[in-house]
Amino acid sequence: MHIVKVSLGDRSYDIEIGSGLDDAGARLQDLGLGKKIALVTNPTVKKLHAQRLVDSLKKAGFTVMSIDIPDGEQYKNLDWANSIYTALLINGFDRKSALVAFGGGVIGDLTGFAAATFMRGVPFIQVPTTLLAMVDSSVGGKTGVNHPMGKNMIGAFYQPKKVIMDQDVLRSLPKEELLSGMAEVIKYGVIWDGAFFEYLDNNRERILSLDHEAVIHIIRRSCEIKADVVSKDEREGGLRAILNFGHTIGHAIETAENYTIRHGYAVAIGMVYAARLAQNTGLCDASVPDRVERLVAAYGLPTNLDVLSHRPTATELMSTMQIDKKAEGGKVKFVLPTRIGEAVITKAWDERQLQELIV
Ligand SMILES: NC(=O)c1ccc[n+]([C@@H]2O[C@H](COP(=O)([O-])OP(=O)(O)OC[C@H]3O[C@@H](n4cnc5c(N)ncnc54)[C@H](O)[C@@H]3O)[C@@H](O)[C@H]2O)c1
Ligand SMILES: [Zn+2]
Repeated sequence: MHIVKVSLGDRSYDIEIGSGLDDAGARLQDLGLGKKIALVTNPTVKKLHAQRLVDSLKKAGFTVMSIDIPDGEQYKNLDWANSIYTALLINGFDRKSALVAFGGGVIGDLTGFAAATFMRGVPFIQVPTTLLAMVDSSVGGKTGVNHPMGKNMIGAFYQPKKVIMDQDVLRSLPKEELLSGMAEVIKYGVIWDGAFFEYLDNNRERILSLDHEAVIHIIRRSCEIKADVVSKDEREGGLRAILNFGHTIGHAIETAENYTIRHGYAVAIGMVYAARLAQNTGLCDASVPDRVERLVAAYGLPTNLDVLSHRPTATELMSTMQIDKKAEGGKVKFVLPTRIGEAVITKAWDERQLQELIV
């Protein structure tokens, strides 16, 4: 088992990678939790993997109640958060009872938000089951739900007490979901760690065939990088925004496609365009966008806006970016690579140059 520590003072916690679901219960025993646990999941994940987790929790002496949320992003909303509160109240949960999020990012964000707000905060544990959730959403404490007027508009920073990952559950994950998570993994290489970028380049087949050691390595390194960034800037005062590499254009693409495109696919395209913008802005030479594009394509991810069903115009993309909640002081901030393994957060980019790239 590999442990990555997220250092946030008295809110610090461990990410346990490769630990297996079978002894998850035992590893929650030292957290001072009450006896009752609510396992929040969806029917897809429940059918495939919940039994082992439930058995191990029971074996460790916990009483387990399952709360099922239908599968899909459209259920990450206040109505379903409310259904969690209701189930907890009916079953006499108190401030020591814990919530366990067992699923992808949708379940993690919704459960985390319910945990942050129920009785002003109850303990919560993340057991992510998608690659995206393992390398990104389960780490760092952003929780929240969607509002009809915008994604992730209601939320809280709320850290879990522990994150437990069993990479074996990824075997049942549809290929597209795996690739969507890979876009975030590539992101860490570009913004933070050139050697990791090379590892991704040299080990593509092992990673995509879910070779044990390779998968553990990419999850571990991604978590280390995210933990490093988050422990320096938990509430996105500055540095944490670096994790938005590829996301500025990515979010605008998701909006243009009405969220029918997977997040990682939109981010993949966004990373390629951001890297080209960095080159045209004079921050890096052509080798940087070339390498980003090659790696993204090698993983079977899209690199070009032309693949979209509703290819947005430059004006459409720019205006969506402008209303994105991360826009500050009138001008959108971009995360632009200066080389493979390093990036800057900047407002100093040229609108015309971006327009020319998008056209
Ligand atoms: N909090 C954060 O920091 C953060 C960061 C990135 C993304 N997010 C959020 O994460 C969400 C996306 O997460 P996601 O990509 O994990 O999507 P998801 O939770 O919808 O999961 C994708 C699909 O995979 C299925 N699934 C999950 N685990 C499986 C397994 N082991 N085998 C087979 N199928 C499985 C799910 O049921 C679902 O159908 C979005 O709501 C996004 O806003 C949050
Ligand atoms: Zn993302």
